[in-house]
Amino acid sequence: MNRLPFILLLVAALGLTSCAKITLAWADLKPDGPQAAPPVLGDFQGQGSIETLEAWKSERAPIVKEALQENIYGYFPDAYKLTVLSREVLDGEAYNGAGKLEEYKLQASLTFGDEVNETQAFYMNVVSPVGRNNAPVILIQTFCPRWDTIPHPAVYRPEDADGCSGGAATGIMKYVFGRYIATPPVEMILARGYAVATIFPSEFAPDSSERGLAVLKEMSAGMPAQKQRWGAIAAWAWGYSLMIDALAQDNDAERDYITWGHSRYGKSALLAAAFDERVSGVIAHQSGTGGASLNRQKKGESVEAITESYPHWFAPAYKQFAGREEEMSVDQHHLLALIAPRPVLLGNARRDVWSDPNGAFRAALGADPVYELYGSQGLQQKRLSKWSPAADLAFWIRPGTHGVVKEDWPAFLEFLDAHF
Ligand code: GCU
Repeated sequence: MNRLPFILLLVAALGLTSCAKITLAWADLKPDGPQAAPPVLGDFQGQGSIETLEAWKSERAPIVKEALQENIYGYFPDAYKLTVLSREVLDGEAYNGAGKLEEYKLQASLTFGDEVNETQAFYMNVVSPVGRNNAPVILIQTFCPRWDTIPHPAVYRPEDADGCSGGAATGIMKYVFGRYIATPPVEMILARGYAVATIFPSEFAPDSSERGLAVLKEMSAGMPAQKQRWGAIAAWAWGYSLMIDALAQDNDAERDYITWGHSRYGKSALLAAAFDERVSGVIAHQSGTGGASLNRQKKGESVEAITESYPHWFAPAYKQFAGREEEMSVDQHHLLALIAPRPVLLGNARRDVWSDPNGAFRAALGADPVYELYGSQGLQQKRLSKWSPAADLAFWIRPGTHGVVKEDWPAFLEFLDAHF
C-alpha cells in the first residue's frame, strides 16, 4: 500500500496546526506518581485543615477560587450583563425533522474596576430536539466555527470570519484528529434527548497571541493589576456562562447545562463549571495543562511550554511558576474540587501524553475528598482504564492520540445518560 499521501497529509496537518503534539509515549495506566499537593482539605495558605462540608463551602472554596484567578487564569469581570440582540428560528425541521435550529445574536458589557467595556457582537446556534425546549443542553465550544459544529446553510457566517483556530482545513483536521474534531454527531445527540448550543469563542476573544492578547487587555483595561488580567481560557469560560444567560432568559423551568470542551476548551469547560454553579456537569476531553492535569511533577506539556506558546491563554502570573511548580499554592485538583458534587467526565487517550492522563487521574484522586464530603462516591476506579460512566468523577481513557474520535461521543453520551 502506498502510504506516502497519508504521511504527507499528516506532516502538513502537523505543520499547519498547533492543535496538539502527538507523542509516541504511552500513559501509564496505574495512578503512579506523587499525590496532589497540597491535600485539598489540608492546610491552605496557613489557614489550617478543614473537615466539614460547611467549612469547604464557606471558608475554603472562596480562597481557592481567589488563588486560581490570582496565579493561573486571571480575574473574571467584577460584573457583567448579557444582551440578546436578536433571536430567530432558522429551521424548525433541521436534521431530518429531529431538531429546531435557532440563532441568537449576543453582546455583553463587562466591568473591571472603574471601566465598562463591551464585547464584539457574537452568535450562538442552538439545536433542540423537536418539542423539548428544556432538554439538557450540551454547551459546545470548539476550534472550528459554529458552522462546522452545525453545518446547516442557514447558520450565519460573517464574511471576515476566522477559520478553525488551528488554521488547517477542516477536512485535514478530521483526518488527523478524528471524525468528530469539528462536527459532533448532532443527530445521535438529539436522538438521545439532548440539545446542543454552540458559540465560536474567537468571535469575541480571538485565539491568537497578538489579536487575542490585545482584545483581552482592552476588555480588562480597568483591572488594577495587569499581572492578573484574565487570559483567553477564562474569557472562554465566561463565554459558557454567557451561553447559559442567553438560554435561561425564557426558561423558568430547571434545566441541565453541560459544558463540553476538547483540549483548550476542555480547560475552559472545567473553569466555567468551577466558577458558575448553574453548570450541572462537565465533559472535559484531553484538557491537559491548565485543565485537569496537575502542574506539579507533570509529564508532557510544562507550565513553561504552555505559557511560551500561548501567552494569551493565562494571566501573566502563571508563567512565573515555570520550573517552580512546587511553589504553587493551588493545583488543578482544586479546580476539580470546586465542581463537586456535579458530575465530570475527564476524557483521555493513552498516547496523548502531552495532555498527561496520569496527572489528570492524580488530580481526580486529589479532588475526591471534596466529592466525599458531599456524600458522592466521586472517583470509582483505581486504575486509569477502569471506566465507570456513572461515577461523579468519571475517567475515560481509550487507545490512540489527541482528538475526538469515533468512540469518544458514544462514551460521552453514556456518561450523560447515567447522570441526566
Ligand atoms: C496544544 C496545547 C495544549 C492544548 C492543545 C489543544 O497542544 O499545547 O495545551 O490543549 O493545543 O487545544 O488542542
